[in-house]
Amino acid sequence: MSKINHIAIIMDGNGRWAESRCRPRIWGHVRGAAQISDVVEAADHFGIKALTLFAFSTENWCRPKEEVSSLFTLLRKYIERERQKIIRNKIRFRVIGDIFGLPEKTRDLILDLEEKTRLSTGLKLNFAFDYGGRSEIINSVNKFIHQSPGQLISESDLYENLYLVDSGDVDLLIRTGGDCRISNFLLWQMAYAELYFTKTKWPEFSTEEFRKIYYEVSLRQRRFGGIDTPLDLVSNLVEAKAHKASMQHKVE
Ligand code: FPP
Repeated sequence: MSKINHIAIIMDGNGRWAESRCRPRIWGHVRGAAQISDVVEAADHFGIKALTLFAFSTENWCRPKEEVSSLFTLLRKYIERERQKIIRNKIRFRVIGDIFGLPEKTRDLILDLEEKTRLSTGLKLNFAFDYGGRSEIINSVNKFIHQSPGQLISESDLYENLYLVDSGDVDLLIRTGGDCRISNFLLWQMAYAELYFTKTKWPEFSTEEFRKIYYEVSLRQRRFGGIDTPLDLVSNLVEAKAHKASMQHKVE
């Protein structure tokens, strides 16, 4: 079995789910937001280290104003509703992305909960909000250039300047709603992720389906570019480097 430490989810299909029931798209988001709590609880029970949920992308600003502001409101309501439970369950809460475009009250709630759970040792729960994977990478490079002018950037320098330095690489990406793409989500962290696309639209995504996907993907053999099953990506890279060095030595 391969170890899954970090799951990322693209919670897609809210709008189509609502439209197919002749309801406004916003209704789909309301029902979608109501699913999140059970999914977080299930992830906590699996014992994984991190769960990252895509709630609003940099591209979602193109949507009608009412839809955008309903997503802001749902984020605020989610935090107000779940705050105590998150603290009690020792969940470490983070929002990644540009939270400065959010209404002040929501931003304050986010910053307060991030601070209150800063030392929590349980599941790391990350919401990606006004988030884009490319801009995360660009920000990281710019931070590095600012700190170390004139130096060449390494993979670990880049990684250390990303938003989610303590959640690690993504092991499993789940996308609901039937589309098979990663939509600018966690591009760096997903280099070796297992991908799982389900036709289920997010408002109908159940914890049973989540559990089934989790166990099914745990059984996949992950080789990280090798032919045996290594412990993880890092140990495989260390071994790959050592082999390269020893083979180059022989050729010389
Ligand atoms: C995609 O549905 C989903 C989103 C834009 C974000 C996910 C949002 C939620 C689950 C609700 C908000 C919850 C919080 C806590 C912020 P879509 O509208 O793209 O669906 P479609 O592909 O059917 O149009």
